[in-house]
Amino acid sequence: MIRQSPDNQIEDAFPSLARVPYHVGIIMDGNGRWATERGLIRYIGHRAGVDNIRPVLEASVEFGIKVLTIYAFSTENWSRPIEEVSGLMRLLGTALRNRLQELHENGVQIRHSGRLTGINEELQKQILHAIDYTKHNDTIILNVAFNYGGRGEILDATRQIIKDGIDPDSLSEETFSRYLYTEGLPDPDLIIRTGGDWRMSNFLIWQAVYAEYYSTPTYWPNFDRAELFKALNEYNRRDRRFGGVPDAE
Ligand code: IPE
Ligand code: IPE
Ligand code: MG
Repeated sequence: MIRQSPDNQIEDAFPSLARVPYHVGIIMDGNGRWATERGLIRYIGHRAGVDNIRPVLEASVEFGIKVLTIYAFSTENWSRPIEEVSGLMRLLGTALRNRLQELHENGVQIRHSGRLTGINEELQKQILHAIDYTKHNDTIILNVAFNYGGRGEILDATRQIIKDGIDPDSLSEETFSRYLYTEGLPDPDLIIRTGGDWRMSNFLIWQAVYAEYYSTPTYWPNFDRAELFKALNEYNRRDRRFGGVPDAE
């Protein structure tokens, strides 16, 4: 089977996969190094990174992924120089402004995981609008982890649980999960990190306990459909035991 790519090149379709992860998380790392290696400022790397979301989202739909969580800004990223932080905020605002209609028309449901507090009010409004505008779409969920930190998320959940007067003895993992930003989403099956590091950097630390982990040296702006397929293929080779015994041969 062949498919026509947007620039009219003929691409081979990838062989079908036995198992497609329902929920994939991506730690989109390496924008800065991508830019620096080209003699460009980091902002250009972030811009290239934002531009790369669209093709990877399209490929995710093509491969049958139903939830894609992208780590776009961590609570620790506030420690970066002010110009870089404001550049990242601006890029999200621009992307939401320019891409929302197209995302909606393609059936993408936008969600946000993270704290709204701390983000400027205009951007908060844009985020809430995008969520509301796309809430009935069901082709794929694009969950944007922005101003997200896993420990902060657990703290926020705990605070709300205490405020709601939940009986400590009846508090279950299921109830706790409903207080997380990812409420209603299944746990991620696969976490991909671009940029070559092997760490979680405070990403989905509650939800990813049994996710398969995949790290590639490819910088995020270069991570394409073929790279995504490679990660899914590797996922297919993993034996997910969830603490049980290996599958019979
Ligand atoms: C990831 O790229 C994007 C964000 C953290 C916002 P980086 O900016 O961390 O890129 P590197 O790791 O410095 O190359
Ligand atoms: C992780 O990348 C956060 C995002 C991709 C948004 P970082 O570049 O912030 O992670 P560290 O600092 O290398 O752990
Ligand atoms: Mg980084």
